Amino acid sequence: MITKERALSIVNGFKDRKILVIGDLILDRYLWGDVERISPEAPVPVVEVREETVNPGGASNVGWNIASLGAETYIAGVIGEDHNGELLENLLREKNIIPLTVKDQNRPTTEKTRIIAVSQQLLRIDRESKNRLSPEVSKRLVEMVKPVVDRVDAIVVSDYGKGVITAEVMDFLKGSGKPVFVDPKPSNFGLYKGITIMTPNRKEAYQCVKADREEAVEEVGRRIMEELGIDTLLITLGKEGMALFEGDRVVRIPARAKKVFDVTGAGDTVVAVLTLARLSGANWLEAASLSNYAAGYVVGEIGTASLTPDRLVALVPE
Ligand SMILES: Nc1ncnc2c1ncn2[C@@H]1O[C@H](COP(=O)(O)OP(=O)(O)OP(=O)(O)O)[C@@H](O)[C@H]1O
Ligand SMILES: [Mg+2]
Repeated sequence: MITKERALSIVNGFKDRKILVIGDLILDRYLWGDVERISPEAPVPVVEVREETVNPGGASNVGWNIASLGAETYIAGVIGEDHNGELLENLLREKNIIPLTVKDQNRPTTEKTRIIAVSQQLLRIDRESKNRLSPEVSKRLVEMVKPVVDRVDAIVVSDYGKGVITAEVMDFLKGSGKPVFVDPKPSNFGLYKGITIMTPNRKEAYQCVKADREEAVEEVGRRIMEELGIDTLLITLGKEGMALFEGDRVVRIPARAKKVFDVTGAGDTVVAVLTLARLSGANWLEAASLSNYAAGYVVGEIGTASLTPDRLVALVPE
């Protein structure tokens, strides 16, 4: 569905792209340790922490993917007035990403902490607020991205449902005239009318139109397109790959993963590569295929893998 030669020429264009990612910023924290005993205080294991790592998550992981692939990357969102907010901003700058953050004193920076021992996750601890942004903060966010929107080739909306993507934000983005690529949250389905394309996974697609399980993916996709008034849609199907809808045409793209270790973040990689490829001259089928190769690679890596342009081209067979 894409030749090596085309992949090479498309990926070569990535370095000239400028992309704005906007959405729910998350700080992903990992505590790696060992368990040797049960606590005397309660019947729970005691984890001795060996190492601690932090990564950009949520919308900032989408931006990280885009920056690793060589494009100029802006990430817009909301953080709290806290240490984690500063940490996240610094992480982004380290990765060559320009942060456009609004500080909200009424919410913490979203943080997800995983405690991992004996090669498995024992616990996840979330600190977050899922309240919709106040009109005042929402306005500040729009003001912040306004001067950047004119400079970018496309906008990626990475909606994790933590309240940053509001009607006001979406109306502004759609009014900018730039292509808008959305990784959606079903509860915000109504906000996505008239976007360029969205990339729900199977579960999200079914939730968007309240489809029951017996309904075929093809039918669900058609209903989504009709309700949003859009003519392209990409539904990701986990180990079954993806379904690309273009007008009346539906194409199934089989999954490419050789080994599967960790499927988290695969959806972030899909929307990142789809956007860059489309803006670099790919047709929709080429862009989707390339994003499918990219996702097949990241699910085979432990932790959040950063994909480089060379590695991406190498995934496409001669
Ligand atoms: N088990 C798997 N085997 C092979 N490929 C996979 C597997 N899981 C995911 N993929 C690849 O990743 C893509 C996106 O996966 P999926 O549909 O699970 O998205 P998602 O649920 O949005 O992911 P995320 O956890 O990042 O939100 C798929 O289209 C496929 O290319
Ligand atoms: Mg997803």
